[in-house]
Amino acid sequence: MANNLLKGKRGIIFGALNEHSIAWKVAERAHEEGAQFVLTNAPIAMRMGEINNLAEKTGSQIIPADATSVEDLENLFSKAMEILGGKIDFVLHSIGMSPNVRKGKHYTENDYKFYAQTMDVSAISLHKTLATAYKLDAINDWGSVVALTYIAAQRIFPDYNDMADAKSLLESITRSFGYHYGIKKKVRVNTISQSPTMTTAGQGIKGFTEFINFSEQMSPLGNATALDCANYTISMFSDLTKYVTMQNLFHDGGFSNTGVTQQVVDKFGDE
Ligand SMILES: NC(=O)c1ccc[n+]([C@@H]2O[C@H](COP(=O)([O-])OP(=O)(O)OC[C@H]3O[C@@H](n4cnc5c(N)ncnc54)[C@H](O)[C@@H]3O)[C@@H](O)[C@H]2O)c1
Repeated sequence: MANNLLKGKRGIIFGALNEHSIAWKVAERAHEEGAQFVLTNAPIAMRMGEINNLAEKTGSQIIPADATSVEDLENLFSKAMEILGGKIDFVLHSIGMSPNVRKGKHYTENDYKFYAQTMDVSAISLHKTLATAYKLDAINDWGSVVALTYIAAQRIFPDYNDMADAKSLLESITRSFGYHYGIKKKVRVNTISQSPTMTTAGQGIKGFTEFINFSEQMSPLGNATALDCANYTISMFSDLTKYVTMQNLFHDGGFSNTGVTQQVVDKFGDE
């Protein structure tokens, strides 16, 4: 189903950890659509080495970067432009991590050092990425930046913990930087709010299997898969969506606008 939607475009894809990662699917689809890109992830995440298979499969090079380090990001953008032979057309920010979630802390008893790390890795890293690209003038006019988010930014999902606060900040940075980058270079910045998906980050959330089943039954179309998320992301990188910017785009099978479904109501009937 390749349509050359990204033919001639150059990109940077953050966050492909293993074949379940949403970023992994985006890289595979971007390759099919004719894009050239570099892959990047935190140096520590590369120890698993799985990203090498993706690089081989998509003919791309890997540049390690901790997305919280401006120095690493400067190196990433400079090297990526060198390798790809010009400015960047699209960037995928597919990064999330909460030490409070990892350590099983309750929201009301969060550790503030961890809390700051959650914000830095999961949200402020988008500001740092955009600010670095802006400073280096590394993104072409009409370029497209997409970050992945979750509806816990708008509604309470208790076990999502401080990641909910990080996603709210991520979506706010998207609007604010989207304004400034739009004015300066017509670069667009959006978030895609994805259904719960079985990935390494997803599985870190307590009770994730039950939760994914609940979400499936609360979505008229069912949960969107990682591959479908990748397809939507490709459309956002393409020139077919040129005037979409500063938006939070729900890609969730209708979950966000559903109060309740008959399937869920039926579970509460008299026995
Ligand atoms: N899985 C879901 O249910 C779901 C739903 C909605 C949104 N999302 C979002 O999608 C994005 C991708 O997550 P995923 O589900 O594919 O899981 P994943 O675990 O495969 O990806 C998360 C990535 O973040 C990277 N990362 C962590 N710290 C980093 C750092 N300091 N610098 C650079 N990279 C770092 C990890 O190495 C990993 O590759 C995240 O933003 C996540 O919050 C996921």
